[in-house]
Formats: sequence, C-alpha cells, structure tokens
Amino acid sequence: MNNELIATNNGNIIGEVVIPGDKSISHRAVILGSLARGKSKIDNCLMGDDVLATIRVFKNLGIDIKISSENTLMINGCDMSVAQNEYSLDLGNSGTSIRLIIGLLAGMGIAARLTGDESLQKRPMRRVTDPLKKMGARIELTNNEYPPVVISGTYTLKPIDFKPPMASAQVKSAVLLAGLNCTGKTVVREKIQTRDHTERMLSLFGGDIQTEEGIVCLTGNTGLKAVDFSVPGDFSSAAFLMVGAIIANQGDLLVKNVGLNPTRTGLLRLLREMGARIEINITSDDFEPVGDIRVYQGGLTGITVDPSLIPSAIDEFPIFFIAAACATGVTILRGAQELRYKESDRLEVMANGLRELGIKLKQHDDGMEIEGGAFTGGSVDAKGDHRCAMSFIIASLRASKSIKIMNTKQISTSFPSFLKLVNSLGLTVR
Ligand code: S3P
Repeated sequence: MNNELIATNNGNIIGEVVIPGDKSISHRAVILGSLARGKSKIDNCLMGDDVLATIRVFKNLGIDIKISSENTLMINGCDMSVAQNEYSLDLGNSGTSIRLIIGLLAGMGIAARLTGDESLQKRPMRRVTDPLKKMGARIELTNNEYPPVVISGTYTLKPIDFKPPMASAQVKSAVLLAGLNCTGKTVVREKIQTRDHTERMLSLFGGDIQTEEGIVCLTGNTGLKAVDFSVPGDFSSAAFLMVGAIIANQGDLLVKNVGLNPTRTGLLRLLREMGARIEINITSDDFEPVGDIRVYQGGLTGITVDPSLIPSAIDEFPIFFIAAACATGVTILRGAQELRYKESDRLEVMANGLRELGIKLKQHDDGMEIEGGAFTGGSVDAKGDHRCAMSFIIASLRASKSIKIMNTKQISTSFPSFLKLVNSLGLTVR
C-alpha cells in the first residue's frame, strides 16, 4: 500500500459490492477458535494486517492455524492450555489485538511482553490493566500507561463485578477473556452498551454467558468448543462507500452481506436523521444479523449527534465528518473524547484535514462543530490512521481539485482491497 495517494474528483459511485470480513469479529474468531477444543473453520475472515497480527500471536503461542484458502482459516484449538513460556509478542497497529490478548494472557497467568508500532505505543492501556489488576494480575506498563506491556506469569485470578469508566468494547472484552479462566462469575455493567461481538461469540463457542439490560455475566472455567462459521462483511468498511454514494454526483450502491449488529450501526441512524435514503434488507440472523444495504445519492442536513449513539458509531466519525462537511447547515458532536485515543487523535487529524480542504469548523475537547461547505483540493495528513485516510479519499468525490493524502499505508490494517474497490466503482486514486 502506497504511503501517499492522490485522489482526483470523478464524482460517481454506482454498483454492487461485497465488503471483506468484519475486523472485530475476525479477531475474536482467531482468539476463541484458538482457545476452543477441536477444529474450527472460519470463512470470510479479514486478512488485513491487524487480524494477521492476531493470527501471528496465536501461532507463536503454539496454536495450529492454517490459511486454507484466500479468506478461510482452519484453527486447531488448544482447549485453553497454552504452554507456560516467556512470550514476546508484536501486535503492530492493532489496539483490539493488544487489549484483548492482555486480558486473555493475564487471565491464564502467562508471562509475556506485548508491544506494537509507534501508534500502538501511544495508546492507553491502564483502562484494561486496572480491572485486571483488581482480579489479581501482575502487569507493568511503560510510563504507567503505554506498551510495551509486561505480564508476569503464574498466579490465579478471581472474578470481579466491574463497571467500565468509559464506553469500550475492548475493555469489556479484556475482562471477559480474563474471566474465562476464573472460577465463578465475572460481571461487566455498561452504562451504554458497546459492540457485543465478544458476548455473542462466546455463546457461539459454547461459553456460559448471559446478557440482560446491559449487564454481562460470564461463568469461567467451563471450556469452549470448536465451531464453523462465516464472518459477515465489515459495516465499518462499508461506511466509507455508503457515505461516498450519498455525497457523489451520482450515487446508487448496493453493499451485500454486511454485519448489521445494532451495536455497530449508529451511523445508519445518523445518516438517516441527516436525510439520507438508505434501505436495509436483513438476509440472515445466526450469531450476528447480516444483510444488504442500498444507498442513494442525496442532500444532507446538519444535525446534533445524540450522545447515546456515539458507542455504536465510534469508528465511523472520520467518515461522518466528511458527510457533515457536505451537509447544509451545522453538525455538532460533543461527548466523543474517546476519538482522541484511537489509531490517531481523530478529532485533531480530521479537523486539520477538513480545514485544509476549505471547511469551517470549531474543535472542542470532546467533539467538533462543522459548517457544511465545499471541498477545495489540498494536501492532508492521515497521520497513519486507516480510517482518516479512507475518509479523505472519499472526500475527493466532492472536491474541486485533487486531494493529496499522506501517511495512508495503514489502510491495509482493516481494508486491504479498498483502493482496488473504489477505483472500480468510479473514483480515481493513485
Ligand atoms: C473494537 C472496539 C472499539 C473500536 C475498535 C474495535 C473492538 O474500541 O473503536 O476499532 O473490536 O472491540 P474501544 O473499545 O476502544 O471503544
């Protein structure tokens, strides 16, 4: 993947696409398939750099994982019995991998040092290690917050009853994965529900887990069993193309086989509130609802984002800001300080890029007010954040001149086929 791209206005997004597998679900498929007893076959697994990092870690831990065809994984699980060793693990750019794996290994009392790239080494980890330490884990952080993270092995954890101080599926999942190895009930109480893939998939793999009114309750040490399934397309990847079709001069796009878990699809509600025409057709609902999305070009109007929708749209704000910049009137987002702790500070990176493209806005500590306008061309820096890079590429659909986007190579962490796909749909990106 090039680290610098030029996107030239073309204006149309028309066609039918299938999106690669969901990143969150693919990570969890590798983790739970590795822990289960027996052979799991995972179809449509995302083969982006982040999931490949998770696969690499479990291979290092001694699990037999084979990529049997383009997107199919065969995992021969270890029945929760990873060998005691001193592991040194590199998670690249992936926050989900490091946070979930810290929970798992801490729960197993396995000694390991975990680190990642420059961006990952700036991401806060106390949010996961604080509850894990309450469970009895022994973990050291760099400067009391960041990777490298060192877990010292050999101890037994006890379950906790935990209220996460921030809305985070990674924190919830780290505690639940640690709870898999505790005798008794681990409870997580969320104020606003975050993505619930871990809960759904633990249940799919035969774990003893219940959720009621935002309270998740897991009984540990019951074992997991292997299962075969197919990963739905990633709604967060589809989001770029959906917004593209709405803001294009001509847009009519059918996205097939996408995950439509309501804890992920806040963007649908936001775009509809702005006036977008979107049709949903649910085609199956096994462990996750899946279906087709059809979106049409149309004008948007600015809105004030309901803060209760933020967790279910958390990864979509970079592309939502592009939609807001194309809307008539002002769009206001507050209460979204979590955006500062993603692969980049997404409020800062998007605000700088939008200003460079001629958009008027006000940045707040916890959000942004964007006045709809017209994109000029210009040169923007995605700062190595895949979702900001893809968002600026989509902005080119409405830009008067080309947009140069720097630090884009991390697009391959979540959507390796993005450039090929958008070029085939009508954009010109080189
Ligand atoms: C994820 C949870 C979210 C999201 C990330 C993937 C997951 O992070 O932003 O891209 O798979 O659990 P937080 O838990 O930090 O909100």
